[in-house]
Amino acid sequence: DSADKGEYRHFMLKEIYEQPRVIKATMEGRVTKTRVLEQALGTEAENLLDNVRHVQIIACGTSYHAGMVARYWIEELAGVPCSVEVASEFRYRKHVIQQDTLFLCISQSGETADTLAALRQAKKAGFRAALGICNVPGSSLVRESDLVIMTQAGPEIGVASTKAFTTQLTALLIFTLALARHNGLPEEKETEIVEAIHRLPGQVSDVLALDGEIAEMSKAFMDKNHSLFLGRGSQFPVALEGALKLKEISYIHAEAYPAGELKHGPLALVDSEMPVVTVAPNNDLVEKLKSNLEEVRARGGELFVFADKLAGVKPEEGIHVMQLPSVHPITAPIVYTVPLQLLSYHVAVLKGTDVDQPRNLAKSVTVE
Ligand code: G6P
Repeated sequence: DSADKGEYRHFMLKEIYEQPRVIKATMEGRVTKTRVLEQALGTEAENLLDNVRHVQIIACGTSYHAGMVARYWIEELAGVPCSVEVASEFRYRKHVIQQDTLFLCISQSGETADTLAALRQAKKAGFRAALGICNVPGSSLVRESDLVIMTQAGPEIGVASTKAFTTQLTALLIFTLALARHNGLPEEKETEIVEAIHRLPGQVSDVLALDGEIAEMSKAFMDKNHSLFLGRGSQFPVALEGALKLKEISYIHAEAYPAGELKHGPLALVDSEMPVVTVAPNNDLVEKLKSNLEEVRARGGELFVFADKLAGVKPEEGIHVMQLPSVHPITAPIVYTVPLQLLSYHVAVLKGTDVDQPRNLAKSVTVE
């Protein structure tokens, strides 16, 4: 029962633990063992996907971070240019609409005022079609979109979004593969990624098994006032999401930066009072990331690194390393989000905040 915390102390923790199951539910009926089932995206999907030349993503909050990850996927796998913008900015500026642009709204609730306002504008403005990624059946976003992909997260009660985010990413990756198929992605590549999607529930479960160690790690954050989250490539939005979680529920100031920007500002803030959290899957940016970590260490910053066990990031004085399973670089953002959710959760519990109902925040912002 979604309105019941069951054995868990908070809805947020329950929802974090539901992720293997709801990611699987979001895949169900949309992928075979090796391919994406395009028909499952709706009868209009084939015609639409053939004609999309650009994607404009609009969302708010955590859903915006899902959109930022999707941009890396859409450009890398489908080769289709993609822009992402927060709804409250998009709706109040003049924008140039390129021909055959798909307007893609991401919203857990389907009722966020700014996202709906942007969608209503877009429908008047000449976008090719509106696709909604949403978790609430019958919501305004679902009713007003031309095509909808429902996430199967089930009701999310905790204000800080967790399972909605990872299921949004799952749905967005499946959509990306369908779009990529229409844009020349080789069948073997599609199969390779679909197989990686099938491994996600198991990999997320493996990360959940690190909960005790992450709870231990969280003690280092309890008395800190500031923190910095670093990631490169598609892990930059994961760092943003990790920082958002920490500020939402523990009230610790958290900033996220693409690791390459470190020396253009945030390095000036780094000292022993500023923990630096980094996500480091074993992708082609890991060597560059390691040199960013050296820069932090040289300034006395304490590092907390979530790294692929094969990435060669070694624990030493001031560098705490938590080893994560080896994952496909494309699905890595989904897996690497989970330890950051747990980290924020445990810091908030230690600080005694109201985890499920953080001060000043609402689950769904339905008025401007
Ligand atoms: C609020 C919630 C966030 C959520 C955002 C967007 O700020 O507290 O968790 O990410 O709204 O909500 P949506 O329902 O549109 O995804």
